[in-house]
Order: sequence, then C-alpha cells, then structure tokens
Amino acid sequence: LNYRVNRERRYILEVLFNGLRRLEYRGYDSSGICIDSCDLPTISNGERRVSSQYLNPLVFRQAGNIDSLVRSVYEEVNETDLNLEESFPVHAGIAHTRWATHGEPAPRNSHPQSSGPANEFLVVHNGVITNYEVLKETLVRHGFTFESETDTEIIPKLAKFVYDNANEEGIPAETYYTIAAFFLFYMLLCAGDQTVTFSQVIIEVMRHLEGAYALIFKSRHYPNELIACKRGSPLLLGVKDLNEEANRAFPDDKLLTKDGKPKEFFFSSDAQALVEHTRKVLVIEDGEVVHLKDGGVSILKFGCEKTKNSGGFARAASVQRALSVLEMEVEQINKGKYEHYMQKEIHEQPESLTTTMRGRLIRGGSSKAKSVLLGGLKDNLKTIRRSRRIVFIGCGTSYNAALAARPILEELSGIPVSMEIASDLLDRQAPIYREDTAVFVSQSGETADTLLALQYALENGALCVGITNTVGSAIARHTHCGVHINAGCEIGVASTKAYTSQIAVMAMMALVIGDDTISSQARRNAIIDGLVDLPNKVREVLKLDQEMKDLAKLLIAEQSLLVFGRGYNYATALEGALKVKEVALMHSEGILAGEMKHGPLALVDENLPIVVIATRDGCFSKQQSVIQQLHARKGRLIVMCSKGDASSVCPSESCRVIEVPQVEDCLQPVINVIPLQLLAYHLTVLRGHNVDQPRNLAKSVTTQ
Ligand code: G6P
Repeated sequence: LNYRVNRERRYILEVLFNGLRRLEYRGYDSSGICIDSCDLPTISNGERRVSSQYLNPLVFRQAGNIDSLVRSVYEEVNETDLNLEESFPVHAGIAHTRWATHGEPAPRNSHPQSSGPANEFLVVHNGVITNYEVLKETLVRHGFTFESETDTEIIPKLAKFVYDNANEEGIPAETYYTIAAFFLFYMLLCAGDQTVTFSQVIIEVMRHLEGAYALIFKSRHYPNELIACKRGSPLLLGVKDLNEEANRAFPDDKLLTKDGKPKEFFFSSDAQALVEHTRKVLVIEDGEVVHLKDGGVSILKFGCEKTKNSGGFARAASVQRALSVLEMEVEQINKGKYEHYMQKEIHEQPESLTTTMRGRLIRGGSSKAKSVLLGGLKDNLKTIRRSRRIVFIGCGTSYNAALAARPILEELSGIPVSMEIASDLLDRQAPIYREDTAVFVSQSGETADTLLALQYALENGALCVGITNTVGSAIARHTHCGVHINAGCEIGVASTKAYTSQIAVMAMMALVIGDDTISSQARRNAIIDGLVDLPNKVREVLKLDQEMKDLAKLLIAEQSLLVFGRGYNYATALEGALKVKEVALMHSEGILAGEMKHGPLALVDENLPIVVIATRDGCFSKQQSVIQQLHARKGRLIVMCSKGDASSVCPSESCRVIEVPQVEDCLQPVINVIPLQLLAYHLTVLRGHNVDQPRNLAKSVTTQ
C-alpha cells in the first residue's frame, strides 16, 4: 500500500490487515507487516512532524494466524502513534501471509525478510528462489549473517550489498575483481555515477535471482517508495481513484486525481485483496518493475535474462500499460449467511453452474439441433479436431475434473485422450508433440507445476488450451486459447464449485469438438438438455445436506474411508476421497472398482466403511456385482445410487443408501460428488478441524 494523504496510521494498518485476511486462504502459518516508525528524532513546539528522511521501518512478524499478528502489533504501537495525523505525506507499508516452503513457521522465517538489524531493505516474497544457496554462500563470504532458514532472506541482503557497493565512494576497482563473477557490474559502477535509484538496485537484484517470485520491496534509504517486480508468480497493482476509463494507457499523470485527493496504490498477489478498494488493476508482467514514488508510478521493463552491462546498471525501458477492470464484487468474497467458505461454495453450485453455462448453450431452431458456443476455442477448433491426441494436464481437484470429463471427450471427439498429473509429466519429461492438443486445467491458473508443464508443452509445439477460473492468470495468458469456467471466486482451500464447473466446461468442450459429427447429434442434444437442467438437479441433491450430516456423525471416529467408483465416476471416487482427506484429515482412498480384486479387497472387513458409487450408467451392472462381492466379505457398505434404485442395489438392511437424482451419464459426476463434498464438510466440522484452512495445505500452490 502506498498512501498519499494525511490520515491516521491506524488506517494504514487496518488496510494491510484486511488485505492479509483476504489472502489468508492462500497461506496461514505465519505473517508479518512493516510500516514506518514514529520514533521521531526531533520534537519542536510539542509537534511531531515527520520528515521522510527519518522514517524507519517498523517490522512485526508472528507465527500463527493473522489475528495473532494484529494483537502483537496493537500491543506494541501506542494510541498516540496510531492516531498520528498529518504526519505522513506518503506512507508505504507492506505485509505478508506465509505458507512455509523453506523453514518452519516461526517469526524469524516470516516475511518481511530484512537485510539486517537496521532494516535497510525489506521484502515480502511469493515464490521460491532456486539459486538461493549459491547466493547465500557468496553473501556470507562478504560478511552477511543469516537468521532465517528461508530462501527469501538472500533477497534483501543482496539488495543491501548492491546498494552499499554502488554508493560507497573511492573503492579501488581491484577490490571488486575479487568478487564472484556475477557481481561484475560493480566494477563498472565504480567508474560511473554513484547515486543509485531504488529501481536500479532492485533490477540488479533481479538479475541474480533464479526461480519464481513476486516481490515487494521497502527500504529506509528510499522512504515513501515501494518497488514491486515479478517473474513467474502473480502480482497485481490496484489503482484507486482514477477518474478516467480504466483501459487508457497507464501510467499517465493526467489520469490521476488532482493533488489533495486521496491517491492509493495497492500491490497484491491476488485480486481478492484489492477488490474492496478498487477494481482497476494492472496485471504486472514478468520482468516488469513497478516503482511507486511520491504518489506516482513508473513501470520499467527488464529482460530477466542476464544482460550485458553497458557501463553501469542493466538497462530497463520505461513502458506504459493498459489497466484492466476486475469482474468481481465484494459480496462474492464474503461468507454471507454461511459459516464457512467451503459450505457457501458447495451450496452455491446451482448458481455457479448457471454462470458457467450462461450464453454458451444454444437451443435448437427448427432443425432441433442444439449447439454449444465456446468463443475462446472457436479459432482453434480445426486444429483441435485434427490433433492426434488430447492430453489433459492438472493437479489435485483440477486433474480429477479432467478425469471425469475424459470419457465424454473420447466418445464425442473420437480422439485419444490421455491424462497427466503436471508434476509427473515433468518428472518423466513425457513426450508431447506438435500434433497434440494439451489442455491445462487449473482453478487458480497459477499452480506452479501446471504452469511449468505448460511451458514444456509450448516448447514442444503443442496447441495449448487453458481452462481456468481466474481471468488474467498466468495459465490464461500463456495458453493459445481457452475457456474461463466463470464459477466466481473460490476461497475454501478444498475446491468444490470450481470442480463441478470445470466438468461442465469440459463437457461443453467435448460437445463443441464433436459438433461436426452428424451421427451423434441426438446424444449431443440430450447432453445439452442435461446441462440446461443441471442446476435444478444440483438444487435437488443439495437437499441431502442433513442426511450427509447424519452420516458424518456415524463416521466421525473412523480412521479410514474407501470410495469405489468406475467409468464416469472413477473421478468422483478420487475427488470424494480427496475432499475427506483434505479437510476432515481422515485417511480416504478413491478406488477404481475394476481393480477391487487386485488388492483393495484385502482391506475389506466389517469395520471399514466403504462408499460404492452405483448410479445408472453403462457400468451399473458391474457395480452391482462389486456390491455383492463386498457384501459377501461383510463389507460395511454405503451405496450411492440413482433415485428409486435403493432396493435393487442394497444387499441387506445394514447397507446405507444415498439416493441421488439421475442425469445424463456424463454429467452424473457433477451430481454424485456433491453428497461427498457435504460429507467431507460435516465430518470436518464435527471433528473440530478448520474447514477453510486445512492443515498444511494452500489454495494455490505457486511453488514446485
Ligand atoms: C492445491 C489446492 C487444491 C487444488 C490444487 C490445484 O493443492 O489445495 O484444492 O485442486 O492445488 O489447483 P489449481 O488452482 O491448479 O486448480
């Protein structure tokens, strides 16, 4: 936050704390904040006037949730300081909530990370620096000591090293010849201008960083300034109180409010922390350095690759960019009448599915042919239809959604479809060809593994299609074409509504790809009718809420739960088990029912609860026989079946039934997953775990 009017400092703190609360779902093991200090060196006539040159950054860091950080700050900053008015012509503060990658959650590992006790340079970081060990060794050789186990700590220390060396006068050039090769540019500096700007320092820092990062810097040497830069990890600049149209070139001082009116800028890795302040944002690109100074903005573009020095700092060109408008409302990111985000997101699936399909289903005219319109794919449809193979790539729930859609895509397109978990594809460096269509499925559009797999597929010449829930995300920007699922913000770490919307989008994609085959027109019409009616059927299945709560009560003390599925609902078994595992912290496994005899049967006894998905489709009779075999081994059965089928699927009184509405077979996974989402939710609440922030998990995993 860079704030340009005279107001209470409490305001600054509250804006930052609220921002952290909005981001808490992305990381919640520790947090930190940095604001300017009020330890004034001079007090004249009883007045406390701050001269920007005396501003010292105050840093607070805390393990645990945001509330513990808030408490610790208010305990230390006194009321007078909080109410200080007319003291800060510009205020620059930064804050961070962490999901640990290097080093346990502890204050010393929290961000902002500092260059040293004097807090000359401070940084908050999202991402991972892969070459931090070699940089650390070099900095240690130059006298730096490290207090954290994080990869991030090298960044502010490197900034200090750059700054000190650039500004030190009269250093003999030969001193620098002893420094490691990558610090070569200092030699050149000695002969050149000694006054270094904040952005020059940071660009030099960036030149030495490898890995993924979004960084925001603050420095006591550059009071009232902030620098943000990125490579790989997402970063947005929110601009408040611009009078003009958002898509004008930016920065342009004419667009800013006149002096005297509030002018506020916000950096964030996630739009959700910005939307209550402004919807006008700049999506910062890789290699851009955004410099806020004296209430103004400049954007520099810097090639992250190592550049040749031309007698000083690396060159970076000044650029103008267009602002975008966030299509997000504050209400979307509040819990409303619900106790938890996961609960809200489960129950809003009729609406999220409606939004996903809005404007995309075209009812038939006189010919009775119905069709689907996916604007983001239409220019590439021919290439997709000609591809030798379609490869779905994703992680977690997004992978499961693709798995649920695979059968219908195979059926309607006639193209072989293969499945890849992004990390596994990368581990194997599996072959991807120019003739492939690679479909990247990701709710956030920022998952590091999926993003790296995308780079790999692009390098190998495949046509890359993105299916994401986040407009402007890295996957949306870097794929050749794609479809937004438009499910609205998903905040609960365990994905629910994004899953069902992803399936709906991939079913629509199958319909579009297969649209040129006349023989399957009737089947396509039936699926389109099914999609139109899907929100109603979802409303119906949500009525099982209380029933699922009762089932959760029965299962509350269990150690383990198996979920058997096959065909369209193999994915449902995996996804249902994943929900239970993620949030209820209960061991749960999704099992391909066809594999039952090849191992899982050994686990079956009268104690272990087993959910069998046996709704009506081509696999129904096979699932009936699975149920018989499990029953013969005294399995403790919970059978999910189509409405009216209870007596035909249940082998005994002891078998519990979950009856769900029947829909077109390829859409049945949307319906069937919902009771399992509800079961996972209630199990979690009953077992006393945190629903929206499950232990050790993050919503968006932007590190490998
Ligand atoms: C994390 C989340 C999961 C999610 C997965 C993939 O593990 O906890 O809920 O399914 O990432 O995320 P994406 O944003 O790529 O769908």
